[in-house]
Amino acid sequence: MSDVAVVVGGGQTLGAFLCEGLAEAGYRVAVADLNGENASKVASSLNDKYKTGTAKGFQVDATCEESVKALATSVAATFHQVNLLVYSAGIAKAAPITHFPLNDFELSLQVNLIGYFLTAREFAQIMIREGIKGRIIQINSKSGKMGSKHNTGYSAAKFGGVGLTQSLALDLAEYGITVHSLMLGNLLKSPMFQSLIPQYAEKLKIKPEEVESVYTAKVPLNRGCEYQDVLNALLFYASDKASYCTGQSINITGGQVMF
Ligand SMILES: NC(=O)c1ccc[n+]([C@@H]2O[C@H](COP(=O)([O-])OP(=O)(O)OC[C@H]3O[C@@H](n4cnc5c(N)ncnc54)[C@H](O)[C@@H]3O)[C@@H](O)[C@H]2O)c1
Repeated sequence: MSDVAVVVGGGQTLGAFLCEGLAEAGYRVAVADLNGENASKVASSLNDKYKTGTAKGFQVDATCEESVKALATSVAATFHQVNLLVYSAGIAKAAPITHFPLNDFELSLQVNLIGYFLTAREFAQIMIREGIKGRIIQINSKSGKMGSKHNTGYSAAKFGGVGLTQSLALDLAEYGITVHSLMLGNLLKSPMFQSLIPQYAEKLKIKPEEVESVYTAKVPLNRGCEYQDVLNALLFYASDKASYCTGQSINITGGQVMF
């Protein structure tokens, strides 16, 4: 049987693109999202495009322990194995620190960090139980390596993700399970980036329509990060070719971050 990938946050945008790319690469895909309707739509389009049984949608709140446990049970009952967990769920709330609401800071930690911890814990148990030398890959951000103005909650949570990845890698090495974070540059066309444009325009004191070009100019390779760039790295680190790599935070930033 083909390998099984679980994509948390797979209901839209980057997560949905990764589900499609994984199905294309031969994985069966558990598409999990807070928005269960979106998860089911993504799964059903994969079943139409590839073959029935390729994918199934699941509703989950990754920040809720009971919900994540229920997801792990349902995925195991459906697919009987898990080879790859991709944690793509994320949320970005921007405001200057002087006005940053505690609720938004806590929500950033919950979705970007706690959800990663809970899903990694539950799906690692399945990999260990089934004797699978699996892969856990977190979708992180360059804001997990460099502070980000007006993004204290997001950046703090993504930095936390790097420590969690390294610690998971140490805990899971004895089982042959490897763990990585992918540190993305700005996905300029994504709804997440687009939603932050008004705040970025205010922060930089420029017009909203100038924001994208300012962000592109910061990138040595002179373009924003694309979903395909992320998929390319994901497929490599999920593969046997990367079996000697673990605990890494891999930059996909066009050279904007080099450490
Ligand atoms: N968009 C960017 O410019 C950018 C840049 C760097 C890194 N990233 C990272 O890439 C990842 C995907 O970003 P995106 O732009 O596709 O975001 P998005 O907001 O379009 O998608 C995030 C998905 O996560 C789901 N989600 C949110 N809370 C959840 C929860 N509690 N439980 C389960 N699912 C939940 C949402 O329903 C949504 O489908 C995130 O981790 C983000 O931090 C994005």
